[in-house]
Amino acid sequence: MIDDKELLKRANEARKNAYVPYSEFPVGAALLCSDGTVYTGVNVENAVNGLSICAERNAIFKAVSEGAHDFVKLAVTCEADHCQPCGACRQVIYEHAPDIEILMGNTEGCFKRTTIRDLLPEAFSL
Ligand code: THU
Repeated sequence: MIDDKELLKRANEARKNAYVPYSEFPVGAALLCSDGTVYTGVNVENAVNGLSICAERNAIFKAVSEGAHDFVKLAVTCEADHCQPCGACRQVIYEHAPDIEILMGNTEGCFKRTTIRDLLPEAFSL
């Protein structure tokens, strides 16, 4: 099974594919499944406000589209001190992986470890 350092590396490698002509703020995500499969995602922006998608949601939607469901860890990286998932992504992460661990990282390999339950207390679910 891939370790934390390697998962953060996969997020940082993916980050290079981010499409960010507006914010110039590339973000990469790497989602680890229980069988060891890793799905990556990047933020993809759009000239029309509201149509951009974050790296985390891209990774989750890619994975779900491929039939994956059992997610154990998500690494997110950006050029800031560490990368905190936005509120919308927190809700989507919770929907698909309420027990997932999250590594909020940067380009240097430093990271903060947390969980979606800590990032989104009292989450909404049906
Ligand atoms: N962004 C992400 O992709 N993930 C995050 O965790 C934070 C923000 C993106 C959205 C937008 O494309 C850019 O970063 C700047 O807000």
